[in-house]
Amino acid sequence: MLADRLVAWQRQQGRHHLPWQNTRDPYRVWLSEIMLQQTQVSTVLGYYDRFLKAFPDVTALAAASLDEVLTLWAGLGYYSRARNLHRCAQAVANDHGGQFPQTAEVLMTLPGIGRSTAAAIAGFCFNERTAILDGNVKRVLTRVLGWDEDLSVAANERALWLAADAVLPEKASDMPAYTQGVMDLGATLCTQRKPACLTCPWSDICIARREGQPEAFPVKTRKLKRSSRESWWLWLEHEEQVWLVQRPATGVWAGLWTLPLFDTEALLDEAVRALGAQSPEIQPAIKHVLTHMDWHLHPRRSVLNHLPAATDLRHLAGVAVGADEHGIGRWVHVSELASVGLPTPLKKLLPAG
Ligand code: ADE
Repeated sequence: MLADRLVAWQRQQGRHHLPWQNTRDPYRVWLSEIMLQQTQVSTVLGYYDRFLKAFPDVTALAAASLDEVLTLWAGLGYYSRARNLHRCAQAVANDHGGQFPQTAEVLMTLPGIGRSTAAAIAGFCFNERTAILDGNVKRVLTRVLGWDEDLSVAANERALWLAADAVLPEKASDMPAYTQGVMDLGATLCTQRKPACLTCPWSDICIARREGQPEAFPVKTRKLKRSSRESWWLWLEHEEQVWLVQRPATGVWAGLWTLPLFDTEALLDEAVRALGAQSPEIQPAIKHVLTHMDWHLHPRRSVLNHLPAATDLRHLAGVAVGADEHGIGRWVHVSELASVGLPTPLKKLLPAG
């Protein structure tokens, strides 16, 4: 009953015109699900089309270089997704004959595909009866079921997966509409604050609503602790070229090109003096918001009138945070900046960005 109503509602009132809908091509569905994991629909729209133009199928993506993939991903954030995307495409091409596996169980063995993403692909493309359970869906289901166990406890989360499986539609052919339906409810009506219960297809059976406190669900006692960090960014310029270093393969901005970072202003000043560059000019600070942390970046621009010796630049890589073993960095002409994978705040800062 629960599922049938949602399926009918989705067909009449849900979203039908997103570019990753009306297809059962697992490549397109997979790409959209990865992009949508930590990013809003409105942001994903532009990236999705550009990505598909560059890489129309999984074989094309597998054959691309990681740098090409990261460049197209730049700005979407959470770059480990892009690395896993590339690894996953190669696994599909090399280990699965270029065809995505057709069950959630096998899909989950691929890089970057967790249980919920596997279920979304299997449900949308192959009608598999298996539940998705991302943040939005947890909210929708805990409310309608009045599920008040603490989701910070792993055993409770496992129990919610079972409950999510128990309310799936009986007919496998309803799976795409049902899966899209719970997503649509979470995104459009059953929002974190001020849910639109009056227009919800489940309003008369929703236990959270009956109890008068839909916003109290889901129950989660352990909240994310946020921290903050300060860093100094050296924007070193020589004849319309900027010195960039590549971030390590893991962590924030993995694999992207960025300015050398310093933990203190004194360390940056010392590096500038050692290079014989002009004294740094203060640029407005940038606040970059990540899931766990607010990162306050303080750019300092310094012009070099001569090209420093390689040894001096190597010293800079040693002092700066974030340069990795692939090399000390490189000069990039301002006209080339658009074709290098840069994190968003840097794109905004640098001249051609
Ligand atoms: N978020 C995750 N998957 C989605 C989808 N298929 N449509 C809209 N938003 C989503």
